[in-house]
Amino acid sequence: MTILGTIKRRLRTFFVSETVLHRGQTLPSRNLRFGGVHFQDNEAFLSAGERDARRLIEWCNLTEKSAIMDVGCGTGRLAIGIMSVLKTIRRYEGVDVSPTAVEWCTRHLTPAHPAFRFTLINVQNERYNPAGGARATDFRLPFDDGSFDVIQLYSVFSHMRSPDVRSYLREFARLLTPQGSVFLTAFTEEGVADEEENPQNYIMEWKGALHCVRFSDKFFRQMVEEAGLKIARTTHQSDTDGQSALLLTR
Ligand SMILES: C[S@@+](CC[C@H](N)C(=O)[O-])C[C@H]1O[C@@H](n2cnc3c(N)ncnc32)[C@H](O)[C@@H]1O
Repeated sequence: MTILGTIKRRLRTFFVSETVLHRGQTLPSRNLRFGGVHFQDNEAFLSAGERDARRLIEWCNLTEKSAIMDVGCGTGRLAIGIMSVLKTIRRYEGVDVSPTAVEWCTRHLTPAHPAFRFTLINVQNERYNPAGGARATDFRLPFDDGSFDVIQLYSVFSHMRSPDVRSYLREFARLLTPQGSVFLTAFTEEGVADEEENPQNYIMEWKGALHCVRFSDKFFRQMVEEAGLKIARTTHQSDTDGQSALLLTR
């Protein structure tokens, strides 16, 4: 992020509110939300975060005593969902390549909820951080081995190519506790090419770099197993824009 970009963002906050209060939770204003049209409505944004928190409780045994890492946390959709459903948690670490997202979360969520911290990682992603300094393939997430009971990535592998996905999966195997698990969403289908960017005639018209990266079930499973993990549960096309939900364990 350039100095000019930072100044422009700071100036903007003097004139336009960065937050909306909804059902007692501080949400990002609409222009600061990720996820296209799906989360523009305040209730849709908050209830989707609550749904994701409840699913982590059911699928990953998330409790107030857990430590969770939310990779590609955006402007705090899951963090806010956890605040609403569980109220607090032992440790929540959000990481993202977007300075705007990390600054918003740090400014508006951490002060009232100190267990929720947010870290900017300058990893290159052609869609979200094209000028990023580090390549995901060489990147070590800034946490100790065995730090997390739960790792979540919602709509993140849907915008990453396989070398980057492989490297993150290896990092997750390092960062998970022995009983820990990963919840993620991705475009995964049977009987398609191993990997394809913006596939035609698939769900909708995809435009721009890494709008949709689709993997075959078989290829995705191979990448998971190469990292020393396994797929323990899936729901096909259950999530945003037809992504599938996957649970990974050791
Ligand atoms: C579609 S948004 C989803 C945001 C959030 N997970 C949610 O569901 O509301 C994708 C997010 O992934 C982040 N991202 C993209 N590449 C990343 C990477 N290599 N590491 C961490 N975050 C990344 C983007 O900046 C963006 O916040």
